[in-house]
Amino acid sequence: MKRASRLVVWSVAVALALAWSAGPALCAEKFKVGLVFSMTGGAAAYGASQKEGALLAIEQINAAAGAGMQVEAVFEDDASVPQQGINVFNKLINGDKVAVIIGPTLSNTAKITDPIAQKAGVPVLAVSNTAGGITEIGDFIFRDSLTEAVVIPNTLKTAKEKLGFKKVAVFYGNDDAFTKGGYDAFKKALADEKIEILSEQTFAKGDRDFSPQLTQIKSQNPDAIICSALVEEASGIVSQARQLGIKVPIIGGNGFNSPALMKNAGEAAEGVIVGASWNASATNPLNLKFVDDYTKKYNRSPDQFAAQAFTGVQIVHQAAVAAKSTDRKAIRDALAKIKDLDTVLGKFSFTEGRDANHAPVVQEVKGGKFAVFVR
Ligand code: ALA
Repeated sequence: MKRASRLVVWSVAVALALAWSAGPALCAEKFKVGLVFSMTGGAAAYGASQKEGALLAIEQINAAAGAGMQVEAVFEDDASVPQQGINVFNKLINGDKVAVIIGPTLSNTAKITDPIAQKAGVPVLAVSNTAGGITEIGDFIFRDSLTEAVVIPNTLKTAKEKLGFKKVAVFYGNDDAFTKGGYDAFKKALADEKIEILSEQTFAKGDRDFSPQLTQIKSQNPDAIICSALVEEASGIVSQARQLGIKVPIIGGNGFNSPALMKNAGEAAEGVIVGASWNASATNPLNLKFVDDYTKKYNRSPDQFAAQAFTGVQIVHQAAVAAKSTDRKAIRDALAKIKDLDTVLGKFSFTEGRDANHAPVVQEVKGGKFAVFVR
């Protein structure tokens, strides 16, 4: 062997030995996951929690995976608007060539972005979309977030049993897929519970003054206000209702499920009732560990959005491990087979229609926190 060739062989051998001795991480298989959350714009409060929940899951999975399937995350901000959602979906699908996408935060964006992923054959796991008509986009679209159609009837039934209201005013955003979907779910549940609707008022995204509608609502003297809103508008509505001296219970949909409600509305948020897919007080061991790990890492408690994003990363990772592949179709097929996975949301399986399938919970804001509603 010539001197130069011997040198090459020797260098390769040294490099391999170094790689091996550096530990299994260098030999691990990487699995590229795109994560699309609203980090700016109206839904940024949700996006911040989602990113934190997802990062915690990624950190724990990669620490435990060793030479197994590791998650390589590509985070993108959809800015709470569909057009930016389209831009980042295209980048993740065609540029980064991710195996799967988690997100986007809002149903309003998902309705526009998910058909792009479906067409490209890229699986999507929604971790906060709760409007109807998301998984119906196609067989590559899944979600771990309970829909308004599942959560709201339970919220309304429980609240009616405990508070005994008979007539309500309905207030909702009529320019957003989620707030409109929540309105539809409330309307059906109100009819099922034989609760009278005194009036229906609407608002638009970005509105700040809700006093005209609330003044009218006050004059109708309802037993409760039913509200389908994202947290920015929900906070304003709750604050202004109390400022106007409206004392009746306010019952919200999934958009209320953020500590931003209490941060923005303060005392006025006390007593607000909201259905959810998760409450921090759940005592299953995985949840206790999650709440503890999250609180240690971020110095605050997780919310439902963090819990669902944390779970979402675990679900897609589990699918890639089961598929033994990073192929998009193989991961889609493995996602469809996820069954009784132990998660912080409880035992997790998808329905036939690829939606989340577990029991909802009713919460009430008490002492600045979401407590389980037990009045
Ligand atoms: N649950 C809200 C939505 O679906 C965040 O848009």
